[in-house]
Amino acid sequence: MSFCFNFDVDAPTNTQDMLGNASLNDKIDRVVKRVNDSGNPEETVKEAKEHFPPSDPQHLLDDAISETLTIGSLPPLHFLNETVFEKTIYEREDTENVLSRTAEQRSDLISGVYEGGLKVWECTYDLLEVIEREGETFGGKGILDLGCGAGLLGILSLKRGANKVHFQDYNSTVIEQLTMSNVIINCQDDDGEDDEQGKGKGIRKTDKENDKCKTKAKHDRKDLLPRCRFFSGDWRTFLTLVSSQDPPLKYDIIMTSETIYNTAYYLALHNTFHKLLAPQGRVYLATKSHYFGVGGGLHLFETFVAEQGVFKVNHLWDSENGLQRHVVTLHFKKELQ
Ligand SMILES: C[S@@+](CC[C@H](N)C(=O)[O-])C[C@H]1O[C@@H](n2cnc3c(N)ncnc32)[C@H](O)[C@@H]1O
Repeated sequence: MSFCFNFDVDAPTNTQDMLGNASLNDKIDRVVKRVNDSGNPEETVKEAKEHFPPSDPQHLLDDAISETLTIGSLPPLHFLNETVFEKTIYEREDTENVLSRTAEQRSDLISGVYEGGLKVWECTYDLLEVIEREGETFGGKGILDLGCGAGLLGILSLKRGANKVHFQDYNSTVIEQLTMSNVIINCQDDDGEDDEQGKGKGIRKTDKENDKCKTKAKHDRKDLLPRCRFFSGDWRTFLTLVSSQDPPLKYDIIMTSETIYNTAYYLALHNTFHKLLAPQGRVYLATKSHYFGVGGGLHLFETFVAEQGVFKVNHLWDSENGLQRHVVTLHFKKELQ
């Protein structure tokens, strides 16, 4: 198996440089075409790349409208309201054509093009509630929010004292326009917010805040952003990218929500867990039992994991009503730790 590289998207017309110094080519997502030994193309894979926050992060928040989620004793989590993207599609940089295509197709997911990261999926809320109950604190740990979308899981760990938090999403549009913005909004905590204690009200509550984000900032938390790194791309190439770092990256905790809907991705996802999880680490996975129309779900994934023989799966929470949802952990089997 070998690789060849191809630019598979139209060149953007807007050449504004968010990083201040990146060339236009750096901003175009590259697609790696895998070719088999007889030279025939097999499949395309979106190449992973790292994204750096702009030199003036505040500009990402111009006119942004945020919501705040409070769950029990967790610190409040601020995030951009998803309607922001619907309303501003044509003003935004959209080199992947993700915003325009999702709007045209009215779809939450276009396999291999847009994997759903622009909205917060409900299992993220389940996982946050389980984390609150379990008392996971994250202090001093290295965290990966895999398939992060809005990045609420990673942001929580950041606010609870994680040492480093890496955010990964398939789409660079999601990373640059949503995940980074959300981290930056959370750098501006409300007065008196306490990392360790939070000031939740014992219920899940989402408040829309119609003020501009800038005006409600009272207390700068500039220490959050330097602890973060941001990546886009397919899990296969993400794994190659981070494994090539010296020393290779390992994470104490990998959190991932609503990422096992497509069985075609199971091997790549499992390899990512296998290679990037620290020996004593754990994966928190939140998921539905079944994803209608896509085909994956927890039972199929657990069967796949059992066949690989690397991880043990524990159920932390199973919903009782409606479409079944679950939160599970994966640990290395004892003999592999
Ligand atoms: C349905 S979204 C869930 C987003 C977020 N975790 C949530 O719960 O709100 C699925 C996420 O999985 C990631 N994903 C899915 N398949 C992927 C793949 N093959 N390679 C990389 N990322 C993938 C995408 O980043 C996407 O944002």
